[in-house]
Amino acid sequence: APDITSICKDAGAGVNDKENAIRSLKCCPPSLGKTIKDFVFPNDKKVRMRWPAHVGTKEQVDKYRAAIQAMRDLPDDHPHSFVSQAKIHCAYCNGGYTQVDSGFGDKDIQIHNSWLFFPFHRWYLYFYERILGKLINDPDFALPFWKWDEPAGMPIPEMFVPETIDGKPNSLYDVYRNADHIKDRIVDLDYYGEDKNIPDKQQVLCNLSTVYRDLVRNGGDTLSFFGGVYVAGDDPVENGAKSVGSVEAGSHTSVHLWVGDKQQPSTPNREDMGNFYSAGYDPAFYIHHSNVDRMWKLWKDLPLPGHVEPTESDWLNASYVFYDENEDLVRVYNKDSVSLDKLKYNYIENSKEVFPWRNSRP
Ligand code: C2O
Repeated sequence: APDITSICKDAGAGVNDKENAIRSLKCCPPSLGKTIKDFVFPNDKKVRMRWPAHVGTKEQVDKYRAAIQAMRDLPDDHPHSFVSQAKIHCAYCNGGYTQVDSGFGDKDIQIHNSWLFFPFHRWYLYFYERILGKLINDPDFALPFWKWDEPAGMPIPEMFVPETIDGKPNSLYDVYRNADHIKDRIVDLDYYGEDKNIPDKQQVLCNLSTVYRDLVRNGGDTLSFFGGVYVAGDDPVENGAKSVGSVEAGSHTSVHLWVGDKQQPSTPNREDMGNFYSAGYDPAFYIHHSNVDRMWKLWKDLPLPGHVEPTESDWLNASYVFYDENEDLVRVYNKDSVSLDKLKYNYIENSKEVFPWRNSRP
């Protein structure tokens, strides 16, 4: 894992049309001259309870909007700014870092398409959530999640749709989205670029079987769910379909492609959600990933054999570096990502509906 301040280079891997890229390819984090500390678990008294975005109360939605607005109001070079947070994804996913710390400085780091996918994104959101809470002075602040595995939660949440709210810009709006999809609202969890044009009812059933496919049928053992082994010295896995975990390759990627703008003529690189380097610029990215993170929890809670995290030391000891809510640089390890209890957050579940897809065997 990188010392993110000293080895970062401009990104570009995976961005086909660099010349016309809508977002910056300079994705390195601000360097504040800090030394990297080891992560310590939070000692918060309360557990942050992430809430389903489609049933958020007005108070929850207002707070969340205000927190994102506060992030947008920071200067870009602040490590907590909206742009700095978006660039984290770009740097870790589009060739910003090399494996220099492990002696393979000619190889890029890519945290997608392998078993780094779930833990990296868990840490990314962990800090993002705590930073947002700090910005609005709410120590219990919790992110919403886009609950696309339950019929009522499948449309893109209403709060992301309007461009303005009471005459002011809606901090959750992003102009680089596929307007046709946003208008129709119900996501297609099995979308790879072709619209199905089926009635909503049928789309809902399709989505339920897609969730079943990703969590049960295709995710029956550790590496099928997490993704393949990727260790120091390996080339970054760009499109290695065989090593991508079931959720990452399935519903996760479909939501990215479904939300992202149409390629030509609208955007050169499917900005924002349809490309790694730009995805973090859409606030919807983080609520999508909070549900992806929840899939890890649901998968683990399913009473099926084989649903366990990797135990190899290469996985346990893989690490990343983030700015925390105090602007300190901290190094975090996969091994510390497995317990939500220790990380002091969890997901609000409606007990009747935890697995609405469990009878949706395709
Ligand atoms: Cu890091 Cu959803 O991608």
